[in-house]
Amino acid sequence: MRVDPRRGASPPFRNLPPGPAAPAKPALEPRSTASYSGVRVGSVALVGAGPGDPGLITVRGLELLRRADVVVYDRLVDRRLLAEAPRARRIFAGKASSAHALPQEQINALLVRHARRGRRVVRLKGGDPFVFGRGGEEAEALARARIPFEVVPGVTSAIAAPAYAGIPLTHRGVASSFAVVTGHECASESQGRVDWARLATAVDTLVVLMGLERLPQIARELVAHGRAAATPVALVRWGSTDWQETVVGTLADIAERARRARLEPPVVTVIGDVVALRERLAWFDEQALPIGAVR
Ligand SMILES: C[S@@+](CC[C@H](N)C(=O)[O-])C[C@H]1O[C@@H](n2cnc3c(N)ncnc32)[C@H](O)[C@@H]1O
Repeated sequence: MRVDPRRGASPPFRNLPPGPAAPAKPALEPRSTASYSGVRVGSVALVGAGPGDPGLITVRGLELLRRADVVVYDRLVDRRLLAEAPRARRIFAGKASSAHALPQEQINALLVRHARRGRRVVRLKGGDPFVFGRGGEEAEALARARIPFEVVPGVTSAIAAPAYAGIPLTHRGVASSFAVVTGHECASESQGRVDWARLATAVDTLVVLMGLERLPQIARELVAHGRAAATPVALVRWGSTDWQETVVGTLADIAERARRARLEPPVVTVIGDVVALRERLAWFDEQALPIGAVR
């Protein structure tokens, strides 16, 4: 029986007959530009830059970056990627957890303004634009302003940082589910929306972004709601870069280990039995160290 390799593929492929690949669309063009009331409008691409290593940007993201007139970029974006757009106007929009270079409304307005002047704008965001990147809000603002836009997904740090630390998020016989959550919101806060009590035992592997500051509370909450205190935890700082550093411990002692290692953001926290696989699978660090070790 002939198997159509595209069966079940994403919508653009669904109606294609089996056979040779479909003719490619001119890949270099931004998805569209449009004209409203006779005024030519540019376009905006929300591009995921990947987790840190500039080699992890997608082919399409890099193509659009090289053709951009304006690049609006975030703090965690590697500067070598900006060098790919030497003629573009480069605008830092950046955000650290405590200091915002530009408020979100201003970033939205900036994208709209440059696109309305007919420019090809690339909004370059760390990791994936739609994973805790506020890319959805920017897309909404563009849709409201009727600016043509496209989204180029990126390799999120939620997956890449563990991968570079030798930690698969799922593994046969060890973990068959994972969740990615923000550590920025805590159950102890009235505004908190992450339900740590339910998450504690709902999935095998928990990946927490922006969780370093509240690591002691998060670990306490998870143990209080049924996760074993001996559950392995890894903190991966600057994953995929030359500065990558990993601290490993358990829910019982990880906060203290992070404090002793003087760890600072950006950090991805991985909680679950898969962390132990690092002892065999660490490939980016020279050699994995046993649980409890710091590199
Ligand atoms: C505002 S979120 C943006 C996440 C991004 N959109 C993504 O998909 O990776 C920023 C957080 O991502 C995580 N992060 C981003 N890059 C990282 C890296 N290279 N290593 C470790 N953590 C990283 C950290 O938890 C950081 O606080």
